Amino acid sequence: MDRLTIRNARLLTLGGPGPRRRAGLSDLGVIERGFVRCSGDRIEQVQAGDPEPCGGLELDVQGRVCMPALVDAHAHLCWGGDRWSEWDRIRAGTPWPEILASGGGILSTVRATRAADLASLAQGVRSRLHAMARLGVGATDAKSGYGLEPQTEARMLQAIQEAAQGSPVIVKRTFLGGHAIPPEDPSWPERLAREVIPDFARRFPDIVVDAFCERNALSVEQCRAVLRAARAAGLGARLHTDQFNSLGGAEMAIQEGARTVDHLEAATPDTVRAVAASTVIAVLLPCSGYALDGRYAPGRALADEGAAIALGSNANPGSAPTVDLRFAMHLAVRHAGLTASEAIVAATRNAAFALGLGEEVGALKPGLRANLLVLEDRDERSLVHAFAAEPPRHVVLGGRLLQT
Ligand code: NIG
Repeated sequence: MDRLTIRNARLLTLGGPGPRRRAGLSDLGVIERGFVRCSGDRIEQVQAGDPEPCGGLELDVQGRVCMPALVDAHAHLCWGGDRWSEWDRIRAGTPWPEILASGGGILSTVRATRAADLASLAQGVRSRLHAMARLGVGATDAKSGYGLEPQTEARMLQAIQEAAQGSPVIVKRTFLGGHAIPPEDPSWPERLAREVIPDFARRFPDIVVDAFCERNALSVEQCRAVLRAARAAGLGARLHTDQFNSLGGAEMAIQEGARTVDHLEAATPDTVRAVAASTVIAVLLPCSGYALDGRYAPGRALADEGAAIALGSNANPGSAPTVDLRFAMHLAVRHAGLTASEAIVAATRNAAFALGLGEEVGALKPGLRANLLVLEDRDERSLVHAFAAEPPRHVVLGGRLLQT
């Protein structure tokens, strides 16, 4: 069995049961000087002090930070074509919802994705996963949602799986069939709930179901039907909600037992309290606020009210063209009011729970997958405050040191 030991490190262990909230949201579980030993693809030992010699590769990191690899709780990752021509309109002040309402935005990517074959979609996902791994992401969400009809949605899920098979990054597939309503099929949300979700639950039993609750996308009641269909089929559910308008989507998602509510830029104080009082995880996506319109979710209020918060890059061609989760961490601190420690918990431990991977990644704990980072710095706050930065010094995924 391959052994890897990282010694003389400042360890952020980030363990503990369940998603972190309140004081736990900023508790990094620091061991000032210790080591992590990996055996095969698992973490074997995490301890203060020095390791016994045991063979294998040993890295003395001279007091640098060693922490769990990042976990991206919300990323689209699979699409055809691009939307670069839209950005001039966005920069000139056209709101993203207006572009969608005029048949562009998501719908323009839907046209390109329907025209793309399996191999090119898989290649796109592969190169995005490769870039994420270099930047220190060891597990990620990957959504479909640019097909809006069964064949293309299935092709996207297949493309994601093919790309994931050759990648060291753990990928959780999310079926975002409810991303928008295609103009040629106004009854798509109802068909999705009635036929497509039960069928996909049989064909892709690992998926989680997602939808977009917004004007010009799906209504609260259409999303409710999608979430109920997911539950009836034994699948977990998530919801894009309160991004531009507060329509009651978050409250509905809580009632229907969704695992996460994602976005929340337009969440009201009542919604913040409802999210905090529930078990749902609030997934903040500040890269789209940065790219589109300077609006950010009320991260500080969510944290102060006791919400469990996770972070995602929201990588997609239209509102967040980046796969760099570190930039989302930076923005969450700069614009959404989180502290550096909270952003680290949100992008590791809590993001793992948002993806249903709390028993697999997001902490340095024996038995978990050996996904870890060594930062260049000896202070973990560098990871959050420095931006447009170099990749971490070392990225270890599945017990293997990535050659970057
Ligand atoms: O999370 N809001 C909906 N979906 C994406 C945007 C997708 C796109 O513009 O293609 C988001 O921001």
